[in-house]
Amino acid sequence: MSKILVTGGLGYIGSHTVVELINAGFEPVIVDDLSNSHPKILDQITKITGHKPVFHQLDLSDEHTVKNLATAEPDIAGVIHFAAFKAVGESVQLPLKYYRNNIYSLVNLLDAYYGKPINFVFSSSCTVYGQPDVLPVTEQAPIKPAQSPYGNTKQIAEEILFDTVSAGSAYKVIALRYFNPVGAHDSALIGELPIGVPQNLVPFITQTAIGKREKITVFGDDYNTPDGSCVRDYIHVVDLAKAHVAALKLMENNNFSGYDVFNIGTGTGTSVLEAIKTFERVSGLKLNYSIGPRRSGDVEQVWGNVSKAAEKLNWKTDLGIDTMMSSAWAWEKYISQNPL
Ligand code: UD1
Repeated sequence: MSKILVTGGLGYIGSHTVVELINAGFEPVIVDDLSNSHPKILDQITKITGHKPVFHQLDLSDEHTVKNLATAEPDIAGVIHFAAFKAVGESVQLPLKYYRNNIYSLVNLLDAYYGKPINFVFSSSCTVYGQPDVLPVTEQAPIKPAQSPYGNTKQIAEEILFDTVSAGSAYKVIALRYFNPVGAHDSALIGELPIGVPQNLVPFITQTAIGKREKITVFGDDYNTPDGSCVRDYIHVVDLAKAHVAALKLMENNNFSGYDVFNIGTGTGTSVLEAIKTFERVSGLKLNYSIGPRRSGDVEQVWGNVSKAAEKLNWKTDLGIDTMMSSAWAWEKYISQNPL
């Protein structure tokens, strides 16, 4: 069984990916600093899979800590690097916090395992495209100036990885540009765990439905879109998790070398109002929502061309917007009754 280091492996996307790695016969080794995750997620993963992965609690932004990790875990075949801060607004207020964590962690990891033939999967984002000129956006679309330090860390990280591969290191690298991950595992034992007030749409919807929030505001209905609200390419987190397994499998293949980048979405756009209506339909509830002003920094509409991932990763999504909403809702109900 190949050992795969999963940084941020107790986080939202990380925990779902750990489950899919185990299902696919890999041996995940989790690293997490618990800054935006909960140690009990390890027990939840164990309940789902019947396997308890090794877990190291540590901060990857510290160089010596990462060198010690590489000594303790020398025989890994792959790294999936999720560990990063992701709150766009906070990154504008505290840019150095974001550069230190998101950039130092990547450099420390690459340094600590340098020279080893490791398959490296990086969590990138469709945020690198900004508002694309052509939709659906392909991987060849120009990278737009970042709208936030968070977005900039994703762009810089892709460049660091590209340069590292170009320099002839033994790394193979795939950067996955995620669209909007939502939903939860069908067991409802793991899901998104926002700290404080959620910034993202779907946790805000489910927290409003359960009564934790009084109402949800739709940030603008005067965009140039079919119903005036913003359009995104929402992808079920389990489909997204499986894309990481597919990326590792592609890199295991001797025909793959170097660096590549893939859009990971469904290829279809859903508006904020459609997302709300879908939630209402699958849950049978009425959501208390109103239309508010635009949120600063939002792009109007973005969805991905995902044919490159279909062709080269041999991957496609199986789960649609109904399942995204129903699974997010099942998780919200579970976690409100079983707080960690
Ligand atoms: C945001 C980031 C993206 C990042 C991702 C990480 C921006 C501009 N983009 O994606 O770079 O990778 O988070 O999680 O911040 N909405 C409402 N009401 C709400 C919450 C959201 O109407 O209470 C709308 C937003 O205006 C947007 C859509 O829902 O149109 C999705 O928002 P969100 O879930 O925050 O994701 P992004 O903004 O697409």
